[in-house]
Amino acid sequence: MKLFDVYPLNDVTIVKAMGAYVWDDKGTKYLDLYGGHAVISIGHTNPHWVKRIEDQLHQISFYSNSIKIPLQQELADKLGKVSGKEDYQLFLCNSGAEANENALKLASFYNGRKKIIAFKKAFHGRTSLAVAATDNPSIVAPVNETDNVLFLAFNDETALQQAFAQNEIAAVIIEGIQGVGGINVASESFLRKIRTLCDEYNAVYIADSVQCGYGRSGKFYSHDFAGVYADIYTMAKGMGNGFPIGAISISPKFAAKHFMLGTTFGGNHLACAAALAVLEVMDEQNLMANATEIGNYLTEALQKLPNIIEVRGRGLMIGIELPDSMKHVKKNLLYKHQIFTGEAKPNIIRLLPALNITKREADIFLEAIKIELEA
Ligand SMILES: Cc1ncc(COP(=O)(O)O)c(C=O)c1O
Repeated sequence: MKLFDVYPLNDVTIVKAMGAYVWDDKGTKYLDLYGGHAVISIGHTNPHWVKRIEDQLHQISFYSNSIKIPLQQELADKLGKVSGKEDYQLFLCNSGAEANENALKLASFYNGRKKIIAFKKAFHGRTSLAVAATDNPSIVAPVNETDNVLFLAFNDETALQQAFAQNEIAAVIIEGIQGVGGINVASESFLRKIRTLCDEYNAVYIADSVQCGYGRSGKFYSHDFAGVYADIYTMAKGMGNGFPIGAISISPKFAAKHFMLGTTFGGNHLACAAALAVLEVMDEQNLMANATEIGNYLTEALQKLPNIIEVRGRGLMIGIELPDSMKHVKKNLLYKHQIFTGEAKPNIIRLLPALNITKREADIFLEAIKIELEA
């Protein structure tokens, strides 16, 4: 049987990882500023995370949601504290798309409406409604097409106001910082406008924090910069440091009913142990402060380099827009300097490193990209 060929691959086989570094099968060491797509939040094979999972494996790894799983409540308590949303409710699932799918469904259950506002360049995942709310027709199958999603220009308050006036809106779904779309930061005033209009029209504000959340921006949710509370936060990626887990954090105004949402694997013992380990390390090592500090350091240094059109983002979610003539830089960083970075096509480099990278590691990257940009 061969693999279904859905991704263009880098010609690298990683066999070992530790902290901010990975090693290939030939023993070459790479600095990882991509984190397997914003997933590695506390560093590869973090010892506390490994021990938490290992200990849990010896006790019980999985049982369904038909029994009590105290680790879920432990996770809810810790997440409530670290995210500053202690009165919210937690529903656990397995991925970012699933988190968004459940959030949109819950919104529609809540106010009985169908129309969703999403934004140009948005990415919300590949399941049916999440992909319909994603601004990329090439990944929307005919069966996923729907009139229920309106795409508006990002940060356009007038268009938003008009859409609310003309439609019965169930929910607005927005990334606080668009990731796949090229690291575009939602303005604080736009997020506040979403909050105001959702309140006025009884619509649901869904903060897709799958990529920009979990401390990456320097605040737990990047929406926090606007000083607003969303009705539902969706999360995944950094939550398990590579162990698959997703979740939605739900405002107290939503009342749960039995069977309205459900999952087989979501919230299993092993996933909860991994997610607890991540929050414990984030808390103990003050990683949100590190994301701010090293993020600012990188951004300021990058802004001084030549041949960059724009540096965007917050904390350790940074986009470096390059002119077309510099499209080769990302590949050169990987193959000449052994540094993994992400990209948003065609010419935006995305930095999504673990939240505990050091200034030394930031400097290694800065030296390498400087050479490439000056070449
Ligand atoms: C903002 C955002 N939402 C949702 C998703 C989907 O997450 P997953 O791939 O875990 O389904 C992604 C993945 O890149 C994302 O960046």
